[in-house]
Amino acid sequence: MTLPDRARRVLPGGNTRTTLFVPPNPPYAVRGEGAIVTDHTGHRVIDCNNNYTSLIHGHAHPEILDAATEAARSGTAFGLPTRSEVALAEHLRERTGIEQWRFCNSGSEAVLMLLRAARARTGRDLIVRFDGSYHGTGDAVVSPEAPGVVSESVLVLPQNDLEAVRKTLRAHGERVAAVLIDLMPNRAGLTPADPAYVAELRDLTRKYGALLAVDEVITFRLHEGGLHQRYGIRPDLVSVGKIIGGGFPVGAVGGSAEVLSPFDPRTPGPVSWGGTFSANPVTMAAGLTALNLFGTKEIADLNHRGDELRKRLREGGVPVNGSGSLLRLITPDTTKLWWALYERGVLTGTNGLLALSTPMTPDDVEQVAEAVLTTLGGASPDAIG
Ligand SMILES: Cc1ncc(COP(=O)(O)O)c(C=O)c1O
Repeated sequence: MTLPDRARRVLPGGNTRTTLFVPPNPPYAVRGEGAIVTDHTGHRVIDCNNNYTSLIHGHAHPEILDAATEAARSGTAFGLPTRSEVALAEHLRERTGIEQWRFCNSGSEAVLMLLRAARARTGRDLIVRFDGSYHGTGDAVVSPEAPGVVSESVLVLPQNDLEAVRKTLRAHGERVAAVLIDLMPNRAGLTPADPAYVAELRDLTRKYGALLAVDEVITFRLHEGGLHQRYGIRPDLVSVGKIIGGGFPVGAVGGSAEVLSPFDPRTPGPVSWGGTFSANPVTMAAGLTALNLFGTKEIADLNHRGDELRKRLREGGVPVNGSGSLLRLITPDTTKLWWALYERGVLTGTNGLLALSTPMTPDDVEQVAEAVLTTLGGASPDAIG
């Protein structure tokens, strides 16, 4: 039996993450080293997926491995808090200016925690979010029509429609706990939000006493303190994940001590939120090392490389969105695109997402550009359309 056959026997559809499925079945990864992944057939690809943007330093970065191994040798998880969560929270505070943090194991969980914090803090029930933005797998943030979903007290508005926000807040403002936004939503096309729109959202939420919550799970890599800092706004809550775990499972919510006070067990009637593996020392140590290796200079360099690549692709007739180190190729047939690039030695997201990582060499980026231009470029004989 082949590996995909064995997989389909024991896993619905042959794997655990819907986002990794490409028909008829994706290859299986067996090894990652720096910017290169080798699959179960021995095919080697430049990894522009980077576990959906989370591996900012690629695979098996020696310093991150050392930090994780050293942490693991002293115990992988405890029924006590550890120093390592204090250290990562201190780093995040210094990096972002956001006062307090609470860790969990995924971005999805971070968004759930963020929504719980918003509702507990304001005593209100409604959440406003925007159609097409992805915020993980929680019922409140997926389509209310999706099978198995019960989504209550969530108002889903069109993207970039200030009038819809104004109207909703006029009608329900006193019930809205939070407005949740991703400033460059991947699934909605990876187009950065308009600064005037974001500034107005900040003003409107303040006016109605609702919290402004920014989901930075993907966008945190674009600026030292998260993409919101480029907009010059201060959100009340942020959710982060991906790169802050150094390649290990992670999520976190940040906010002022006041906004996160419902989680403080010393207060009357606190929110109870556990998580057996939350803030485990292996993730915390790997995350801290990864972030220490990704300061202002490294962020600017990687963003510059992304901007150059985007420019080159656009000049070659390829429709591409995004900002800095995150790119999104726009094509109607993403499956065909995925396979064409994979066969040309480039691993992308199944929706045309590319995320650069620090170990990529100029040659790697050149090879990526060539593969995309050959596959999607205006003059290409096999342009996907
Ligand atoms: C903006 C955003 N929020 C939340 C999530 C969920 O994160 P995770 O996959 O770690 O649960 C994602 C995942 O891609 C995301 O892009």
